[in-house]
Amino acid sequence: MAAGSGAPTMRLFSWLTFLALWGVSSAEPGKFWHISDLHLDPNYTVSQDPLQVCPSAGSQLVYNAGPWGDYLCDSPWALINSSIYAMKEIEPKPDFILWTGDDTPHVPDEKLGEAAVLEIVGRLTGLIREVFPDTKVYAAMGNHDFHPKSQFPAKSNNIYHQVAEMWRPWLNNESVALFKEGAFYSETFPGPSSAGRIVVLNTNLYYSNNRLTADITDPSQQFQWLDRVLTNASQAGEKVYIIGHVPPGFFEKTRNKAWFRNGFNKEYLKVVQKHHGVIAGQFFGHQHTDSFKMFYDDAGSPISVMFLTPGVTPWKTTLVGVVNGANNPGIRLFEYDRATLSLQDMATYFMNLSQANAQNSPRWELEYRLTEAYGVPDASVRSMQAAATGIASDQDKLQRYYVYNSVSYDTTACGETCRAEFLCAMQEVDFDAYYACLSNSGAGPRLGGLLVLLATLLGLQALLAP
Ligand SMILES: *[C@@H]1O[C@H](CO)[C@@H](O)[C@H](O)[C@H]1NC(C)=O
Ligand SMILES: *[C@@H]1O[C@H](CO)[C@@H](O)[C@H](O)[C@H]1NC(C)=O
Ligand SMILES: *[C@@H]1O[C@H](CO)[C@@H](O)[C@H](O)[C@H]1NC(C)=O
Ligand SMILES: *[C@@H]1O[C@H](CO)[C@@H](O)[C@H](O)[C@H]1NC(C)=O
Ligand SMILES: *[C@@H]1O[C@H](CO)[C@@H](O)[C@H](O)[C@H]1NC(C)=O
Ligand SMILES: [Zn+2]
Ligand SMILES: [Zn+2]
Repeated sequence: MAAGSGAPTMRLFSWLTFLALWGVSSAEPGKFWHISDLHLDPNYTVSQDPLQVCPSAGSQLVYNAGPWGDYLCDSPWALINSSIYAMKEIEPKPDFILWTGDDTPHVPDEKLGEAAVLEIVGRLTGLIREVFPDTKVYAAMGNHDFHPKSQFPAKSNNIYHQVAEMWRPWLNNESVALFKEGAFYSETFPGPSSAGRIVVLNTNLYYSNNRLTADITDPSQQFQWLDRVLTNASQAGEKVYIIGHVPPGFFEKTRNKAWFRNGFNKEYLKVVQKHHGVIAGQFFGHQHTDSFKMFYDDAGSPISVMFLTPGVTPWKTTLVGVVNGANNPGIRLFEYDRATLSLQDMATYFMNLSQANAQNSPRWELEYRLTEAYGVPDASVRSMQAAATGIASDQDKLQRYYVYNSVSYDTTACGETCRAEFLCAMQEVDFDAYYACLSNSGAGPRLGGLLVLLATLLGLQALLAP
């Protein structure tokens, strides 16, 4: 099911409006949405029979299911519809939307199949286009947007082809062609003399569950392409946002759980270390949790940050070692400087699912603003390092970070084990560094952070200004 492309004159008109808006308001901060992991369960039903509510709960019993979803299940259509309309109500004119994938339910492959996966991707694409007809959407595929799940080939195939056609209205022709080969692409942001660029990656190629790419050094030569894109961007004086689904590094809700294979993880880190000067932000999903990951250079200075947006699906993960891993549905709005792409703030909105069901009313409300929650001036690398240092050294900030991680679903205390896992995942993307962090497990602030903390205590912050 391919989305139609709309009347050309209408589209031209809306683009002109868009360009005009962009030009006139370039002094005000720009805004963009980041959403991820919608995971529609098309068979969700509000049944009194605890085995009949949703296939995505597997054999778990679902009692008292409500119309807006259940913590054991993937999203009913009503929840997804509500999330996209909530975006429209909160900020109807974002510059663009980042959508980092995972559209289908957590069910065995046999319950889906290629046609069902494509149909679900098409339904969500259609909804987003219906609600935001004039907004550019930069979309990445998630590991659940393929059949069999996570088995992304390092070559052209029917699914890449079909998805590229569905997303054609959001892409230029060159991107469509590239997407058909490897499900990645890059474009400059629209707008007069834009110096911003988006890079959409297919990091499913690096996922340890993907058997097809296990023995390939550079699947689809995406790393080589990425190096060229970032080198070009640097020469052109552009800044870049990188988006993808599966993130590098470790999952904070358990121990020793990385997503990439180690070789790919190292390669990704190398790219960030080499090109951090042009990378103005990294936006990923997959974990369904709200967290961030810091990147450092060899001398220990913070150079980049990756923001992970929570899922819309509340689905309680069945991953071994995770305790009560559900979340409230979340959506996220960023504020940024259009000229430099520097990130100014981030606001996460959520639906209190139990409350929505109890009151039969889907209310989306502000959960927190980054700058207020961590007492930082913006969402820059430097501010995020200060936030990380605060989380590592102040139990109240750690607890805050922990509660936000599940979108205010799990409010239990984050104890010593939790603290080590959260801090090491936040500060160490590299495998060896992460293991070392856990084993030296005071897991205090990273050295760079410690110095900042010390200097702050001594009133020497001016000395640290870059
Ligand atoms: C989607 O949400 C909108 C806004 O709340 C509502 O008007 C519409 O009826 C919903 N559609 C479905 C199918 O739930
Ligand atoms: C939904 O139900 C239909 C009809 O019973 C079934 O064929 C399909 O496999 C189910 N889909 C999922 C995702 O469970
Ligand atoms: C893009 O491709 C479409 C369909 O293949 C074609 O009709 C259109 O002219 C192309 N646009 C540009 C700008 O090349
Ligand atoms: C880099 O820029 C060169 C020169 O403009 C261009 O030919 C090439 O396609 C660009 N490479 C990538 C990967 O975008
Ligand atoms: C969500 O709603 C429940 C009541 O259904 C309430 O107990 C809980 O405190 C609420 N959580 C938040 C974060 O507001
Ligand atoms: Zn997911
Ligand atoms: Zn995923």
